[in-house]
Amino acid sequence: MAFYFEEPSRTFNEYLLVPGYSSAECRAENVSLKTPLVKFKKGEEPALSLNVPLVSAIMQAVSDDNMAIALAKEGGVSFIYGSQSIESQAAMVRRVKNYKAGFVPSDSNLSPESTLKDVLDLKEKTGHSTMAVTADGTANGKLLGVVTGRDYRISRLSMDTKVETFMTPYDKLICADLGTSLKECNDMIWDNKLNSLPVVDAEQRLHYFVFRKDYENRKNNPNELLDENKRYIVGAGINTRDYATRVPALVEAGADVLCIDSSEGFSEWQKLTIDWIRENYGDTVKVGAGNVVDAEGFRFLAECGADFVKIGIGGGSICITREQKGIGRGQATATIEVAKARDEYFKETGIYVPICSDGGIVHDYHMTLALAMGSDFIMLGRYFSRFDESPTNKVQINGQYMKEYWGEGSARARNWQRYDMGGDAKLSFEEGVDSYVPYAGSLKDNVGLSLSKIKHTMCNCGALTIPELQQKAKITLVSATSIVEGGAHDVVLKDAKEQK
Ligand code: IMP
Repeated sequence: MAFYFEEPSRTFNEYLLVPGYSSAECRAENVSLKTPLVKFKKGEEPALSLNVPLVSAIMQAVSDDNMAIALAKEGGVSFIYGSQSIESQAAMVRRVKNYKAGFVPSDSNLSPESTLKDVLDLKEKTGHSTMAVTADGTANGKLLGVVTGRDYRISRLSMDTKVETFMTPYDKLICADLGTSLKECNDMIWDNKLNSLPVVDAEQRLHYFVFRKDYENRKNNPNELLDENKRYIVGAGINTRDYATRVPALVEAGADVLCIDSSEGFSEWQKLTIDWIRENYGDTVKVGAGNVVDAEGFRFLAECGADFVKIGIGGGSICITREQKGIGRGQATATIEVAKARDEYFKETGIYVPICSDGGIVHDYHMTLALAMGSDFIMLGRYFSRFDESPTNKVQINGQYMKEYWGEGSARARNWQRYDMGGDAKLSFEEGVDSYVPYAGSLKDNVGLSLSKIKHTMCNCGALTIPELQQKAKITLVSATSIVEGGAHDVVLKDAKEQK
């Protein structure tokens, strides 16, 4: 006879935290969100930790090198998506590891033949107003000039005016030579009252810009997550098919941690993948596995040697796995059960295998609940896809700015190896959708706000660390009517214009 779980499985939305005693030292500035990323033995320190408990999803619409740099600056980690060629994924990893804080590769580039219309289109696309004009229109071409908002007046020029007629030409620019230190570049910016400084090599080829506004930002990144060589930490997704070629390329590129990306991780394919990594690299290569939604699945992957285990089937915002295949489990229930299994495994073996709740976070307080329920860190897709730093287009729909966001199991991503783990057959149905999400601005601002809410709630629970929260949290189920009570109710809301 089939096995029946006694309780229905539940989502984060069905729970709330009940405050505990807060002492006077429970203040947001005293809270530490440091959390282990990979397994460790009792009494030892994990080889890798996060400074904030957030990682970005292994998805085309979320985690490229740009996102990875922005998130590592705030203390989290991105897992660069694996549904691309090995070469391009390794190149993204390499770009993160080679990134020199303060030296920014130019993302807005024009050729001298480009027109004012191209300038405006590019500004709309990237949101940046400093553009390089290079001979071949690439980020590392011979620098011929720079265009900023100060170089043109739209009312005075026709849209087909060539960039070369109004750019600031190379001989009028102040540039730094490649190899100039960041401090020297900043001094040049201040001494010459510049907003940006191109860095060029002996052949006049552009390498980077250094921006005045970044100077302040850099002083504001107390959580940044760095390796021992002061390079940003970055993760990468792998699959259970081409690991024998993908893993060596990612390791060579400098990936700090890998994660097997699969919609269903309780499988022999994951064991074979981890076995291969252990045979070839021992414990030096860190690899997470998943996704699972119960204690049995967790135990299997922990015994296979996974460095962390990811939880979640069917809860992602773009996910239609439950509708298509009828598999999955409410994300809160899955997290609670796997956390219990993690603690039991730790008691038995002395090995702590961190767990990551993946998908289904809608409100910031869901993050706090996931942590309180035992998750060591959280993976988010929709959340990060809304930010400037995600790789997707920003578009205007009915007057509102949106970003595109699509599932790895959608026809657009065609990441079939995530769903059909071992066989050769291509899947014949989708498990994800293609969608829009409201554009939300910069990662830094949004993550800062979310973390501030987490910290304040932790203080309400009398907790200054994540393990303390997991011990002290008092969690209650809520009825459908009390969820209504939780929003503004029985009042007539003023519209935006009326509000002071
Ligand atoms: P979100 O944060 O709710 O948007 O969920 C993101 C998570 O959904 C990812 O980390 C994946 O685990 C999962 N996911 C990504 N693409 C798909 C898909 O196409 N179908 C089902 N799940 C997906």
